Amino acid sequence: MSQAVDEIKIGGIGASRKRVEDNRFIRGKGNYTDDIVLPGMLHMEILRSPLAHARIKSIDASKAWDIPGVHLVLTGEMMATRNLAWMPTLSYDTQAVLATDKVRFQGQEVACVIADDPYIAKDACEAIVVDYEPLPVIVNPVQAVAEGAPVIRDDKENQPDNVIYDWEVGDRDGAERAFAAADVVSKLELHYPRSHPSPIECCGSIADFNRATSKLTVYMTTQAPHIIRAAVAMVAELPEHMIRIISPDIGGGFGNKVPVYPGYVCSILASILLERPVKWIEDKSGNLISTGFARDVYLKGEMALRRDGKILAVRMHTDADHGAFFSDAQPSKFKIGLMHSAFAAYDIPVAHLTARGTYSNKAPGGVAYRCSFRVTEAMFFQERMMQAAADDLGMDQAAFRRMNFVPDEAFPHRTPFGFLTDSGQYAKCLDVGLTAIDYDNFRDQQAQARSRGRLLGLGISTMTEPLGAGNSREYDILGIKMFDSAELKVHMTGKAIVRTGARTQGQGHETTWAQIVAHELGIPAEDVVVEEGDTDTAPFGMGTYASRSTPVAGAAVAMVSRKIRAKARKLAAHLLEVSEEDIEWELGRFYVRSAPDRGVTIQECAVAAYANMPDGMEPGLDATAYYDPPNLTWPFAVYIVTVEVDPQTGVWDVLNMVAVDDCGVRINPMIVEGQIMGGLTEAYAMSNMQFITFDADGNCVGANYMDYLLPTAWETPGFELHSEVVTPCPHHPIGAKGIGECAAVGGPAAFVNAVLDAIKDTGVRNIDMPLLPDRVWEAVTYHRDVSGAPPVRSDD
Ligand code: CDP
Repeated sequence: MSQAVDEIKIGGIGASRKRVEDNRFIRGKGNYTDDIVLPGMLHMEILRSPLAHARIKSIDASKAWDIPGVHLVLTGEMMATRNLAWMPTLSYDTQAVLATDKVRFQGQEVACVIADDPYIAKDACEAIVVDYEPLPVIVNPVQAVAEGAPVIRDDKENQPDNVIYDWEVGDRDGAERAFAAADVVSKLELHYPRSHPSPIECCGSIADFNRATSKLTVYMTTQAPHIIRAAVAMVAELPEHMIRIISPDIGGGFGNKVPVYPGYVCSILASILLERPVKWIEDKSGNLISTGFARDVYLKGEMALRRDGKILAVRMHTDADHGAFFSDAQPSKFKIGLMHSAFAAYDIPVAHLTARGTYSNKAPGGVAYRCSFRVTEAMFFQERMMQAAADDLGMDQAAFRRMNFVPDEAFPHRTPFGFLTDSGQYAKCLDVGLTAIDYDNFRDQQAQARSRGRLLGLGISTMTEPLGAGNSREYDILGIKMFDSAELKVHMTGKAIVRTGARTQGQGHETTWAQIVAHELGIPAEDVVVEEGDTDTAPFGMGTYASRSTPVAGAAVAMVSRKIRAKARKLAAHLLEVSEEDIEWELGRFYVRSAPDRGVTIQECAVAAYANMPDGMEPGLDATAYYDPPNLTWPFAVYIVTVEVDPQTGVWDVLNMVAVDDCGVRINPMIVEGQIMGGLTEAYAMSNMQFITFDADGNCVGANYMDYLLPTAWETPGFELHSEVVTPCPHHPIGAKGIGECAAVGGPAAFVNAVLDAIKDTGVRNIDMPLLPDRVWEAVTYHRDVSGAPPVRSDD
């Protein structure tokens, strides 16, 4: 007699199943792009511009061509003859593949050499002589819009200045009225600095064009293989069905591997011209200096407040520095990503946001580094503003937030910028966090310590992030609607393979998608293999970024499993010789309602799908589901940090950090904790040590791991994680919300707020990240705000 299976034992939802992909990773058996070696493969290196802005007077590559082992030297001029000197970007802009007229940022791609090995190619790059005529350089939005500023994108018609967009959202007049009626107006101005996602594996590609079949296969480090296939079809004018993009194991992405980079295009053209595989693997400096940077937003805001602490309105203005090409991906309706997700957790009647994007002589910026488009900047500003406003009112930080939270019973809640949030228990999360950090006691300790000259501080940050773009009504990239997909094939023996349009880069999809199948069908997770990243086999999907995998592809896995279950029900009815209406389901088994002992397992149904199907039924047990989410999912989190600041040196240490994350139903609690730990580590690094900026000449300062410090276990403080609050997403098939980015999004403000709380008596309102010791020392010593905006100060 068959029985229902135990969900946790079969590795279903809620099981902290060990990551199956780690079997190969910890043995050094991962298969990364650079591990792939094809017969006859050549190697490509890129010559990059040393200057940030210069006219190219001439390029002489004759000496490079003469070097033995060199097969091809590509320049912009050659690319232009094939209409490939420029390519479209994911934001309706254009980007130079290889520079023709000017270089527009330091590190821009100027020429490529393809040779027998990478060393010859590198030497040959150095033999190329480029005659540059330097031009004035712009490194921030103030310079970009200054009277008489040089026009960076003079390649574009109808581009008389350096402004990319002027955008506004919200209710200008309503906000005006609310500010007129306010008791207190609190203001804050800050710069969220450029940062770099800096995955350990750099970007790269191996293009392999086969003249005999006309098929182009490209192995590449991409988070979004299907978008890349569409882009290659457009740029190289190749038929889409003759392009196969394979994204093998990826050594971290964090948004860095979403854009299309010139190196990909050049390796493809080189392979077509040479009819040999061409490998391009970027070096670390190349990655840090030229590929998608994140953030670089100047934020100004004000909050209209009633004396008792009620927020009446918010006004924000942002100036976003996008670098020389507007090339990050975002839904095309929202010029600055989802910046207007700010203040979604608070019940604010009216808000207005203006946003301006400008070009500068920096590498393209604005990628969604571990966040849903521009949400990190939005949440950072929100929580810095909340702290400043509470201080201006003389109110307790926690009480001010609690008073303004959207209450539990008010969902779905329409935010002042028009989003519809789904569910949450914000006050409960805050209470869990305050208890964990021992809030009241800490405030007493802080007061006592201050009387002895010790500076203790406590910072609170909350975040709610719109995760899971689309729905397709509102979200598209280059007109391609944002939905996702899953295909499930159950074999005759009840084993299965699931493929999705997402692409894991370390998040553990191979483990968690199998858990969703186990939850829906009762097939043990170990009997389900997960495959992603090959456009010839995976169903079409928009890839993995913006924590959209679980909300969209994960939902598609649940929905495709339900399709399979519906067919299996028919098979069960046939096997049990009853009508379908008389059949009930429990995990792993169908049974006859009136005789529960009479049942068949899902595995028995699988055999029947191939060996004993009813007359007229199509054989097989496989299906595909495309999932278009009705809404985004809105996880919530509270992060609380306590610190001690040394006023003599400006060094600050974390005493405690607690994190309360509510991401709805947790598929794999252990993986979720890993995601939060990783995010908090990145948040700590951004707030404390990661420094990459530009000097007045546009030189990228800090493009190496001596300056741009990756946190190791040595520096990283301990984190205390709490999972007590679970608010299922009402519209997701299994109630899950995204989690991958929450801690990186909400974490930075908690650290900064804590340091500013410690030095509150100085009257300092802001220190820009990273809060390096010299900046904190300057603030404490001279009682003044400290900006980190470029051009970089000589003493930084
Ligand atoms: O899109 P990305 O995979 O980066 O982010 P995510 O959808 O938030 O998922 C990150 C990892 O956490 C995946 O392995 C998810 O399946 C897992 N996860 C989970 O176990 N439970 C959730 N509620 C959300 C994510």
